[in-house]
Amino acid sequence: METWTRRDLVKGGLAATVGALVMPPPRAAAVERGPAGAAPGTVVAPARERLLMDFNWRFHFGHASDPARDFGFGAGEEFAKTGEFMRTPSKPDLDLSDWRQMDLPHDWVVELPFQNDDGLVSQGFKPVGRAYPATSIGWYRRVFDVPAADHGRRLSLEFDGVFRDCVVALNSVYLGRNLSGYAPFRFDVTDVVNYGGSNVLVVRADATEHEGWFYEGAGIYRHVWLVKTAPVHAAPGGVFVGSEVHGGAATVVVRTQVENESDAAPVCRVISTLTDPAGKVVARAATPPAKIAGWSGREFTQRIAVTHPALWSLEHPQLYRLTTAIEASGGEMDRQDTPFGIRTIRFDPDHGFFLNGERVELKGTCNHQDHAGVGSALPDRLQDFRVERLKGMGCNAYRTSHNPPTAELLDACDRLGMLVLDETRMMASSEEALSEFGRLIRRDRNHPCVIAWSIGNEEWRVQGSEHGALIAADMKRLARQLDPTRLVTEAMNGDWGKGLSEVVDIQGFNYFQGDIDAYHRAHPHQPSMATEIASTVSTRGIYANDAARGYVSAYDVNFPRWASTAERWWSFFDPRAFLAGGFVWTGFDYRGEPTPYQWPCINSHFGILDTCGFPKDNYYYYQAWWGGAPVLHLFPHWNWPGKDGQEIEVWCHSNLERVELFLNGTSLGAQDVRRDTHLMWKVPYAAGTLEARGSKGGQVVLTAKQETTGAAARVDLAVDRARIAADGEDVAVVEVRVLDAQGRLVPVADDEITFNVTGSGKLIGVGNGDPSSHESDKGDSRRVFNGLCAAIVQAGKTPGAIHVEATAPGLAAGALDVTCEATALRPAVP
Ligand code: GAL
Repeated sequence: METWTRRDLVKGGLAATVGALVMPPPRAAAVERGPAGAAPGTVVAPARERLLMDFNWRFHFGHASDPARDFGFGAGEEFAKTGEFMRTPSKPDLDLSDWRQMDLPHDWVVELPFQNDDGLVSQGFKPVGRAYPATSIGWYRRVFDVPAADHGRRLSLEFDGVFRDCVVALNSVYLGRNLSGYAPFRFDVTDVVNYGGSNVLVVRADATEHEGWFYEGAGIYRHVWLVKTAPVHAAPGGVFVGSEVHGGAATVVVRTQVENESDAAPVCRVISTLTDPAGKVVARAATPPAKIAGWSGREFTQRIAVTHPALWSLEHPQLYRLTTAIEASGGEMDRQDTPFGIRTIRFDPDHGFFLNGERVELKGTCNHQDHAGVGSALPDRLQDFRVERLKGMGCNAYRTSHNPPTAELLDACDRLGMLVLDETRMMASSEEALSEFGRLIRRDRNHPCVIAWSIGNEEWRVQGSEHGALIAADMKRLARQLDPTRLVTEAMNGDWGKGLSEVVDIQGFNYFQGDIDAYHRAHPHQPSMATEIASTVSTRGIYANDAARGYVSAYDVNFPRWASTAERWWSFFDPRAFLAGGFVWTGFDYRGEPTPYQWPCINSHFGILDTCGFPKDNYYYYQAWWGGAPVLHLFPHWNWPGKDGQEIEVWCHSNLERVELFLNGTSLGAQDVRRDTHLMWKVPYAAGTLEARGSKGGQVVLTAKQETTGAAARVDLAVDRARIAADGEDVAVVEVRVLDAQGRLVPVADDEITFNVTGSGKLIGVGNGDPSSHESDKGDSRRVFNGLCAAIVQAGKTPGAIHVEATAPGLAAGALDVTCEATALRPAVP
C-alpha cells in the first residue's frame, strides 16, 4: 500500500493484486476522524469535504452570435480534442484586467438597464434573448489549487443552479453541459484535476432562451461546491431517510446507497446515528457488512426505532440529524449529516391534508425566486426572510412555482415550519426531463417540509390528452421509485377529469376553471387542492387604477379574466373540508408578467407582498382569516388633499366580532364581521383621524388609525436583524420609512434616498416595490415608494459594524449599525 499511486487505482494494478480497498496512504494532512469509538490515533481515509466555491470568481460578458466577442467560442474546433475546450478563457495566464471580480451568487440580468421592448415583457423588460446577444452570454472563471494530498480521492464540482444552458471546462477539458437553469448538476473531476497545482474552471452560461414566462435572471445564481470523498462513499443524493409513526414511537427507515469507485472489493457497512432536536444521540445502528464489487454500488436499508419521537410540525419544526458513516475494510471512509424530521403526511379525498394525523388547511402561496435588489441571486438568509414574512400572515405552505427551488429555501422551510409543494420545470418523459425530475427528488426527499411533488403547471397542450396521461405516468413511476412516501400532482387550468387527472394522485385545480364541487362528486376517491388560485392584482399603497403609471388599486377588487379576489377564493375553499386548501398566486411580487398594464410597469402585481416583502393590504385579509391572532387593519391612508367631501371607500380586515369606525371622533357606525369577508364604509373625506375600534364579547380589543400626516420630515431606518454573521454571506434587510415631524409614515412620500454604507460590509441591492420603477437595483440610491424602500447589506468576513446612513434632500437623515459577529466560516475553496 505504501507504493500506491492514483494510476494504480484507475488501472486496478495494485488494488486488484492485493484485493483490498485502495485508499490514500496515511499522511499528516489527512483529517483524522475515526469511527465512533475508534482507537485514538487510528488513521483513516480523509473524511468527506464539501467546500463552498462562491468566492473570488471573475465574470465577463460574451456574445451570442459573434465568436470574436465570445472568447472564440464556436469559431474553432472546441470538441475536436480533449483538453482543447474553451482554450482562450481557460489560459492560466489570461489577462483578467477587464474581467470583473465578484462572488456568487450572481444574477447578471438584474444589473442590466430596462429596455422598452415588447419582446421582453415576460422577463421584466431586461435585455436578454436573441435580440440582445451582447448581454445574453456570461463567462465565469475561477482559479483554485488542489493539494497533492488529494490524489486518490474522488473530486466533484456541484452546481446548485446556473441559468442556463451552460458548458463547463476544467483545465480546458470539457466536463459537460447542463440545460435547465433550475436543475442541480455535478461533474466528477477526479481525472482532470491538477493535483498539487493550479486549476482553471470556466463556465459559459447562455441565457438567450427562456424557460419560463417570468423573470428568471441569468448566471451562476446559486452555490457551487467542490466535494472531495474517499473512493468509497455515499452516492450523491444517495441517503434517504423516512419515518413511520405508530402511537408514541417511530421507525426511521434509512436507505443508503454506497458507491465504490475503485477496483477493490471492500467489505462495507453503514453506521447510522440519530441525534434528536436537543442534540442527544438517541439511536445508532450498523448494517451487517457486505462486499461491494469494484466500480459498483450497493444499497443498505435500516429500520431504526425511536421512542417518544419529537415530531416535526408547523408550530414545532423539530429536526433530527442522521449521521451516516461508511466503513470499508475496517476504516471510516465517509461521514455526512442529513437533517430530517419525523412526521406523517396524508391527503384524504374527503377531509383534505393531514400532518401528524391532524387536519391542516393548506394556506399557501406560489412564488418565484426573485427579490428586490438581488434578482434571482438570493443570499441564503433572504430565504428565511421571505418565509418569515409569509408565516407572518398565517401562510403555512409554499409552492415552488414553476421550477426546482434552491436547496436553501427548503432548509428554511424545514427550520421555520412551512409545507412545500415541490415542482419540476419540464413536464415530459424525455431523458432530460426525467433526469431533472429525478435530481430534484433525490436532492429534496429528506426535507420534512416537502409534502408532494408537482410534475408541471398548466400544460394545456397535453394535460387533457392521452399523451399527457402517458407522460404523467412515467413521471409518477419515477417519483414512486425514488420516493414512495409522497404523492404526485399537476397544476391543471382546465381539462379536469381528462388526461392527467386520471394519473395524478392529487387533483390540482388552477383557478375556477370548472365546477370544483361537481368534480369532487364525480371523483370521490381523489384528493384535491387549489395548486394555484387568486392572482389578485394590487399595488402597495395605491387606491385607484392608473394605467399611465401602471398601478392598480390595493383594494381586493382587481384580477385578470381567469382569476379572482382573495375573498372569493378563500370564502369558497375555507368551508369545503374535502379541499386540502390552496396556493395563492403569489406571495411576493416578481419581475416580469406586468398585469394588467405593461411598460412602464415592469413587474407583476400578484403578490400579497411587494418585491421587497412590504405587505399590501390583502396581507391583512389573509392574516385575519389564516392566522390565529386578532387582526384589525384599516385602509386606505388618510392623505387626500383636494378631496374634501368626496366619498372614499374605507375597508377594514378584521377577525374580531364587531368594528366601529370614527372620523375625527364621530362614529360612522358599527358593523358585524362575517367570516372570510371584509368590512366597508363610504366616508366623505375630511382631513384628520380615521379610527376603527374592534371588539370581541362587547369589549374593544384593538384599535387602528389612519391619520392625515404632515410633510415628510425625516428618514427612519429599521433592520430585520441587528446582528448578523461575519461570514461574507449573511445579510440584513434595512427598511426605510419616511416620517413626518410627528413620527408618522408619510404614505405618499417619494423622496430619493441615498445610502452610504461603510464598515464591515457592503450594500448589495436596493428596492422599493414600485412595479414601474426603472431605477437600478444595484445603485446606491432609491426613491421611497409610498413612504417605503429597502436596502440589503451583506457582511464581510471581518467582525465589526456595518454603518448604514440614509439621506434625502430636505429631510433629517437616518442611520443605524448592523453588528457583524465573528463566526466559523463555512469550509470553502481557498
Ligand atoms: C397562471 C400561471 C402563472 C401566472 C399566473 C398569472 O395561469 O400558472 O405562472 O402566469 O397565471 O395570473
